[in-house]
Amino acid sequence: MSGTVEDSMTERVQEQAAVNDGLVLFGGNGDLALRMLFPSLCFLEAEGLLPEGLPVLATGRSAMDDDVFRALVREALERRAPEAVATGAADRLLARTHYIAADVTHLEEFKRIGVRLQALKMSNPLFYLSVSPSLYTSICQGLLAAGLTSGEARVVMEKPIGKDLASSRVINDQVQAAFSEERIFRIDHYLGKETVQNLIALRFANTLFEPLWNNLTIDHVQITIAETQGVGDRWPYYDEYGAMGDMVQNHMMQLLCLVAMEPPSDLQPDSVRNEKVKVLRSLRPIGRAEVAQNVVRGQYAKGVVGGQQVTGYAEEKGSESQTETFVAIQAHIDNWRWAGVPFYLRTGKRLPDRDTEIYIQFKGVPHSIFAGESRQDLQPNSLLIRLQPEEDIVLRLMNQRPGLSLDGMRLESLPLSLSLKTVHKTPSRRRIAYERLILDALNGNSTLFVRRDEVEKAWEWVDGVNDAWRRAGLPPKPYAAGSWGPAGAFALIEREGRAWRED
Ligand code: BG6
Repeated sequence: MSGTVEDSMTERVQEQAAVNDGLVLFGGNGDLALRMLFPSLCFLEAEGLLPEGLPVLATGRSAMDDDVFRALVREALERRAPEAVATGAADRLLARTHYIAADVTHLEEFKRIGVRLQALKMSNPLFYLSVSPSLYTSICQGLLAAGLTSGEARVVMEKPIGKDLASSRVINDQVQAAFSEERIFRIDHYLGKETVQNLIALRFANTLFEPLWNNLTIDHVQITIAETQGVGDRWPYYDEYGAMGDMVQNHMMQLLCLVAMEPPSDLQPDSVRNEKVKVLRSLRPIGRAEVAQNVVRGQYAKGVVGGQQVTGYAEEKGSESQTETFVAIQAHIDNWRWAGVPFYLRTGKRLPDRDTEIYIQFKGVPHSIFAGESRQDLQPNSLLIRLQPEEDIVLRLMNQRPGLSLDGMRLESLPLSLSLKTVHKTPSRRRIAYERLILDALNGNSTLFVRRDEVEKAWEWVDGVNDAWRRAGLPPKPYAAGSWGPAGAFALIEREGRAWRED
């Protein structure tokens, strides 16, 4: 070994490429595991992407044997992954799936888990924590005490990591006592969505956009994550987090970072994550003096969504609450690239449509050569990156409207669309975001996972906004379920002469 920087880089990459020899699913019989994780594994198995013969050990509190557990998973797979089941993938996966009942709050339980891992010949497993974050610490302590965290063993954690900066630090410290940072994989499932990754390709695999991607050409950016569903029986969790902790701190911040980051030098995990952290560090804090002008909080009241009468959040919870189910924010990134470009962020539950999109509005032409009506037709270019319900990328360009008119040339804005569904006939199904993430975690690639400092920087900013609200004593404004949030959300953007994008 010559010991050059390049050699050590290669070693690092090779080291990261070690594949886990088993998967241990804590919360293996829980909702996320049955709805998302097992179906993802089954699709990966069907495509031959799982490491050959990978054993899976699920743990949960309920007592049951392997056969009862397999029947439970099979039922979920038949509903969620019928295409993969039809290929025989479920049979293969279930034959390697095992179950152990364990109370993870007791250290001794991990000895039993260790014995089972040995029997299944797992020496470097991927531990997936699909449990309440309140159990992360005891699981990591248990794994450490039982000597199960060495070698290439890795851990995957779901959000939320903490309720604020202080509590997220405590969790991160405790998990890091058992696993080194490069073996901790913090999931934000938005990063597993294909269009989110496509954003990286769009920005950095084309020369077209990068010269325009700045405050000279872009007027503003909108990021919307709208959901029609309500909180329902998740309120015990949701009431503590609100839209800020549930969506903004993680999914929204990740989308913002990918839109705003500088080009990384390569796709190595730290190259990308360093650039994302720089964006989070540049986010302008919103304090007590700015909060009323820049942030709108709402909470849904009863209303109609998709033709159905639905109850309000307070009725679902059974009591009054100060928790926001909607938030609209005008954010600024204080750096050279983005100075003066507002980022309008909006997310909420019980909105009229399910719609997740990033909308980049460019500035208008500096001087219009068109007069009369055609001058009015003139609209700025825009780029829409739609993640949900359909994946689509639409660049709007001005064209001459065909036809003769005594008024001269008429203009119209036309879409140049890159509908992923139309372009790629296969795979016809939408991939589950977890497929990509499980695959990457098993292979030790953490590019699409969130580093500790990202989580903490995002909390720091969110804590600032939450604190400003508290000090300003601003309760969330009610909005009718099925509407686009409180009137203030429109005022937030319209007072600057802009508007939320509408279809
Ligand atoms: C989760 C939130 O992280 O993301 C939920 O906890 C939210 O409240 C969900 O509904 C949205 O994810 P998706 O992929 O359906 O947009």
